[in-house]
Amino acid sequence: MSIRNVLFFDYPRAYLDDQEDLLRIFKNVGKRGAFIMQQDLLDFEVTLAKYTGSKYAIGVANATDGLEFSWMALGLRSGDEVICCSHTMLATAAAIKTAGGVPVPVELDDDGLLDPAAVEAAINPRTVGIMPTQLNGRTCKMDKIMAIAEKNHFFVVEDAAQALGSRYKGQHAGTFGDVAAISFFPAKVLGCLGDGGGVITNDYGVFDKIYQLHDHGRDVEGEVKSWGRNSRLDNLQAAILNHRIATYDQIILRRRAIAAMYQQQLGDMEELKLPPAPDADPDHFDIYQNYELQADRRDELKNFLAKNNIGTLIQWGGKAVHQWKHLGFLVRLPKVEHFFERCIMFPMNIFIDDADINYVCEKVREFYRK
Ligand SMILES: Cc1ncc(COP(=O)(O)O)c(C=O)c1O
Repeated sequence: MSIRNVLFFDYPRAYLDDQEDLLRIFKNVGKRGAFIMQQDLLDFEVTLAKYTGSKYAIGVANATDGLEFSWMALGLRSGDEVICCSHTMLATAAAIKTAGGVPVPVELDDDGLLDPAAVEAAINPRTVGIMPTQLNGRTCKMDKIMAIAEKNHFFVVEDAAQALGSRYKGQHAGTFGDVAAISFFPAKVLGCLGDGGGVITNDYGVFDKIYQLHDHGRDVEGEVKSWGRNSRLDNLQAAILNHRIATYDQIILRRRAIAAMYQQQLGDMEELKLPPAPDADPDHFDIYQNYELQADRRDELKNFLAKNNIGTLIQWGGKAVHQWKHLGFLVRLPKVEHFFERCIMFPMNIFIDDADINYVCEKVREFYRK
């Protein structure tokens, strides 16, 4: 098999493959001078709400702000504890912290997502909320998490940064709890050409507060009702997202096909624990934001693949949230820590073709044959 070059993610192609349409959009937006809070943004907010089955959507500057605003809008107070998974991006826990609360990271389940049993075990009188991350494009078992939340009258903010299009039992990620945020970072399945985010909710009160927070305290009518910041999604980015969301479902199907190929070619390997296959459980519809697996001799495998021009990624600097020593967490989470010794992400994006996947799988098999 000849040598190929399979990048983990090809950032220039996020522009180059779409160049003609993007230039048309730049010209169109530029000619109108439609830079801030214009029709493209309003259109995108309507589309996003409709796509996710939410009543309200707000374009924000990035998902991190959206998550922080969510907790602020729910009235998080100093010392309030929120339970989240330690296998998530720091932004999840940071949003709780910067909104004034205390993030309480806990263990993952067999899917690598927030474990409902660990949530129950972490509840104490200071707990006010749960923050599941719909990680890698897979939605947590939200019926279990919502049952815990309802029983204890907890708020739920979903970190759906990686989960636009993901569903659990037919319901869209981000619509189970009080509010959720989605990211449009360029490497996301729906990515723009810079930072971008969206908040979705069915609660008008939450929508109204987040709207004010993201636009200098102004409500939808322009009346200043509170102190706010500037965290608006650029109109140009919204125009790009309007263009890209039109073919989004096809992109998800391609990613699911890639996951099925990995499963078919590597599913029998004892050295690997692959993520659930697309058809493994009818309750889950995964969009494969990432293809994250666990591997024996993970670091050696990564080096071997790199020598064969295959890009892989160990997410978030190779550490779970609670493992960053300057952040002051004292907890030990053996399952998460074991996971972070073994986890690796294989290429998963629309720039790779079937021959690339075959090459990756062949090289993985070759490594373990040695
Ligand atoms: C799970 C998770 N949460 C939050 C974020 C933050 O999103 P953003 O970069 O749009 O602030 C990301 C982005 O990578 C993410 O993957």
